[in-house]
Amino acid sequence: MAPKITVIGTGYLGATHAAAMAELGFEVLGLDISREKIELLSAGRVPMYEPGLEELLGKHVAGIEGSSGRLRFTTSYEEVAEFGDVHFVCVNTPQKHGEYACDMSYVDSAFESLAPHLRRPALVVGKSTVPVGSAARLAARLAEAAPAGADAELAWNPEFLREGFAVKDTLHPDRIVVGVASERAEKQLREVYAKPLAEGSPFVVTDFPTAELVKTSANSFLATKISFINAMAEVCEAADGDVVKLAEAIGHDERIGKKFLRAGIGFGGGCLPKDIRAFMARAGELGASQALMFLREVDSINMRRRGHMVELTREAVGGSFLGTRVAVLGATFKPDSDDVRDSPALNVAGQIHLQGGQVTVYDPKGMDNARALFPTLGYAPSALEAVRGADAVLHLTEWKEFRELDPAELGEAVAERRILDGRNALDADVWREAGWVYRALGRPRA
Ligand code: UDX
Repeated sequence: MAPKITVIGTGYLGATHAAAMAELGFEVLGLDISREKIELLSAGRVPMYEPGLEELLGKHVAGIEGSSGRLRFTTSYEEVAEFGDVHFVCVNTPQKHGEYACDMSYVDSAFESLAPHLRRPALVVGKSTVPVGSAARLAARLAEAAPAGADAELAWNPEFLREGFAVKDTLHPDRIVVGVASERAEKQLREVYAKPLAEGSPFVVTDFPTAELVKTSANSFLATKISFINAMAEVCEAADGDVVKLAEAIGHDERIGKKFLRAGIGFGGGCLPKDIRAFMARAGELGASQALMFLREVDSINMRRRGHMVELTREAVGGSFLGTRVAVLGATFKPDSDDVRDSPALNVAGQIHLQGGQVTVYDPKGMDNARALFPTLGYAPSALEAVRGADAVLHLTEWKEFRELDPAELGEAVAERRILDGRNALDADVWREAGWVYRALGRPRA
């Protein structure tokens, strides 16, 4: 019989995983400690913006007309333990306050809450991004605390989904990595992932520490690629070169590749920044800090981008923000998401505000989250309203909506036709033809 699945934690990762498992044909029970979230999800609604996720939930959440009824939600660990054969742990692992290390308290509390109820054979599968060594510790804890003893087993199965593409990445993963301690666990995971495996997703079977490291090293590589191209942008600016052309040209080399070479104000979000910091902290504990020294540089190049954007804007408005109006297009850390965690765009907006500029922000989906995080900034209901009277317009998150703006129409609304493209994503020629001074990071002035 097909295993019954539970998903513990229903954030970006968990909500998507639960819906995807139902789509693959399994009976699924999702758990969250937030009753509010459970009520929302049970009504087929998603507490964040993620393209396609609400549709997928609507197809499967029990009680919704025409749904498969395969997906339900609860707040009870007891119910989860009774129901499931395979339990995916998808809770978040944020950065600790004031430290680089990762906060494991949600993972630990999920295991402590689940284990005492595991009375029959079960596979607990960690998906959260954790410091290497956590799985071995959690496996020991499981064996100790679960009444089923050795029949309650652990596996580690990192997740590589990107926000904005969560549904696609989960249903059609470019690889499935499992850290297992037994053939039984591997067999069960092959069964769970039978469909993507049949469609050709590579399946990498390994031990616990390697599985944990695959995730942190993949994110470190991606962060390094972005900071590399941003370092080249700094050099291009100094030498009057063009980083966009440079990225295109080096990207033709297949060993380098074109992806993740977009220079701009750098990476943010709930993953890359905190993951590289937690990785450095963990390497330090293991006595291997020297191996990851370069990540310190990756992080500092990245943070420097935000300051540089502020500098360029200050220079553009005449050397001081006092008495100036700055329009900020974009608040989320990337397009097609409403996530503003560690958003470079909001960081830049906040710095300009602190330096006395009057900042007005507009974002297609991130307004509520931005307002909650930065209540003192100004907000406008559209790009056109945001730029009204502006001395400079900053393009900081590359939403499609912004590429489709009419520079002539916006030009009528601003005080000065100055645009600074923090994502190298607008068509410079089109803006310049409409009379704008267009400036981008790592590119010649005009
Ligand atoms: C990332 C990883 O891609 C994913 O595999 C992992 O599971 C979670 O972390 P995500 O945080 O959703 O996913 O966003 P991603 O698309 O990787 O972008 C991260 C940041 O890098 C964004 O702020 C984006 O704007 C920035 N970025 C990305 C660049 O500045 N330049 C690029 O070329 C690519």
